[in-house]
Amino acid sequence: MSKSHPGGMRRNLANYGDAGFSVFLRKAFIKALGYTDDALDRPIIGIVDTASGYNACHRNVPDLIEAASRGVMLSGGIPVPFPVISIQESFSNPTSMYLRNLMAMDAEEMIRAQPMDAVILLGGCDKTVPALLMGAASANVPAIMLVTGPMLAGSWRGEKLGACTDCRRFWARYRAGEVSDDEINEVNGELAPTIGTCGVMGTASTMALTVEAMGMMLPGGAAVPAVHAERRRLAERTGARAVAMAAEGLTPDKIMTPAAFRNALRVLLAVGGSTNALIHLTAMAGRLGIGIDLEGFDELGRETPVLVDLKPTGQHYMEDLYKAGGLTPILRELGALLERDCLTVTGKTLGENIDAAPAGWPQDVVRTMAAPVYRNGAMAVLRGNLAPDGAIIKQAAATQSLLQHEGRAVVFDSLPDMAARLDSPDLDVKPDDILVLRNAGPKGAPGMPEAGYIPIPKKLAQAGVKDMVRISDARMSGTAYGTIVLHIAPESAAGGPLALVRTGDRIRLDTAGRRIDLLVDDAALAKRRAALPPLPTGEGRRGYERLYFDTVTQAERGCDFDFAVPAITTKVP
Ligand code: FES
Repeated sequence: MSKSHPGGMRRNLANYGDAGFSVFLRKAFIKALGYTDDALDRPIIGIVDTASGYNACHRNVPDLIEAASRGVMLSGGIPVPFPVISIQESFSNPTSMYLRNLMAMDAEEMIRAQPMDAVILLGGCDKTVPALLMGAASANVPAIMLVTGPMLAGSWRGEKLGACTDCRRFWARYRAGEVSDDEINEVNGELAPTIGTCGVMGTASTMALTVEAMGMMLPGGAAVPAVHAERRRLAERTGARAVAMAAEGLTPDKIMTPAAFRNALRVLLAVGGSTNALIHLTAMAGRLGIGIDLEGFDELGRETPVLVDLKPTGQHYMEDLYKAGGLTPILRELGALLERDCLTVTGKTLGENIDAAPAGWPQDVVRTMAAPVYRNGAMAVLRGNLAPDGAIIKQAAATQSLLQHEGRAVVFDSLPDMAARLDSPDLDVKPDDILVLRNAGPKGAPGMPEAGYIPIPKKLAQAGVKDMVRISDARMSGTAYGTIVLHIAPESAAGGPLALVRTGDRIRLDTAGRRIDLLVDDAALAKRRAALPPLPTGEGRRGYERLYFDTVTQAERGCDFDFAVPAITTKVP
């Protein structure tokens, strides 16, 4: 890069009204870091550092920065790591989703404000991947994703375990009295036996695979375990590729196209992925003026079976998918359902990447289109008088006999109400009732926590009940399972009809007909609406909570901040 080139350290100068002085001052501080003048003439590759003492999912970030930096330098660039906030699921109050948009803003502004010709987005835990890509899409600097990788599976008394599907499975058994205090403590020590992201098809794995399918990650980058040497080699290759992308000007808007999002949605369905990914992909697409049409997504589901036999819909773990070839066999099996001419971070198309990958081998993790894990589509989109703007059910992870069900509503008005009454021996609840949780959406909780996986009331769990129909305006962890209707929009705290349900009402779930309805007549509902208390407002809130409450959108728009999203000009699928 010549000295007259505005890139490298000459990019994004601090504004003193004198560009020459700005460069002069920057050089002084670069020298304080131990760099030579030569640094000013190199492409600068920013590396987002999301390590934190609270984030075991990102424990290998320092290693990966070292390996990626090596790749950058071998290719003639200068790597410059810089921090943004780090979010880990179980260390985020009230919930990690509340902080996703904060991380997206942090990433966008730091990528935009600092000098870098390309950026390596280093994330992994659930919200970090979408947050970094939302920010990078808005900053539109050449960007490449590198994930920390999934953890290995654990083992307890001969049984294979993985966070967090087995966390929930064993906790449910503990609540039912099937597992003792000592045993649950033993299990606790085996659920997350290595660093890395959850080792099942939770949100982290789903986001990694969909982002690879979208073309924002090197081929093979999603499934390599966090502790595997190949993960570090992948980081080195990512660093090298980032330098080339800087020269090519390969910005996110050239890769994250409507067709790329269609491919990502296909893969989300084919892997039996997390329902959260639909919200995150919607938010990422929104940053580029692309809307996700829920009915179109439902149509994709009708022609895209679940191919991957991983927990929670199947049997295996991410380490097994890696050994089976990672994303490539899934893409090959999807074949003509994919749009192969999408450009990717390799500078080649998705189709060229698939053709260049090694030939497959016999394995039992990725099934064929002719003999899938689940034929009917991983998720279904519901509408009805309870969800005028949509709701979602992961039908592949549900009890099939409950997908068509009518039952009596048992309503919890909020998370604290649920916590106070769910396990009471006096709770009037039967196995064929429908549990309803409200005020758990984007504004209501706030942050739309993963509370949609309402625990089976203790007295029913102890009687052997494993699943019930549960509905809410909350989300659910990608590692969870059950007959659970989520993301009801509008949420109750935004005036949605979920606020009108009363214990004793009848609710009908008709998954085949794509409906969720409250069987109460319109006149009675109008009366109930007139008697509702005023909706909550931003009044009395301050700081980030105020910003969040005033501007967060509903699930069908990705729960992004309304001011962060440009006008939607294209709809996918
Ligand atoms: Fe980080 Fe599951 S808690 S990926």
